[in-house]
Amino acid sequence: MADVKITVRDNGPFLVTGPVEVSDGAGNTFDLKGKETIALCRCGVSANRPFCDGAHRDCNFESAERAGS
Ligand code: FES
Repeated sequence: MADVKITVRDNGPFLVTGPVEVSDGAGNTFDLKGKETIALCRCGVSANRPFCDGAHRDCNFESAERAGS
């Protein structure tokens, strides 16, 4: 099993579980505050990008990909 798991949530964020580091385009690292699971926004509406803040629920973001299809 992989050390890092990424789950594509229906109509929501990417949930990333495992030992990861998230950096910006300049190479600066975001403080994950020791969290083992983070949610990365994929709707583009979060006020806390690249992290999900729950705003996808209010913007009618729809995306429910299935593996293998
Ligand atoms: S996916 Fe949650 S705010 Fe964008």
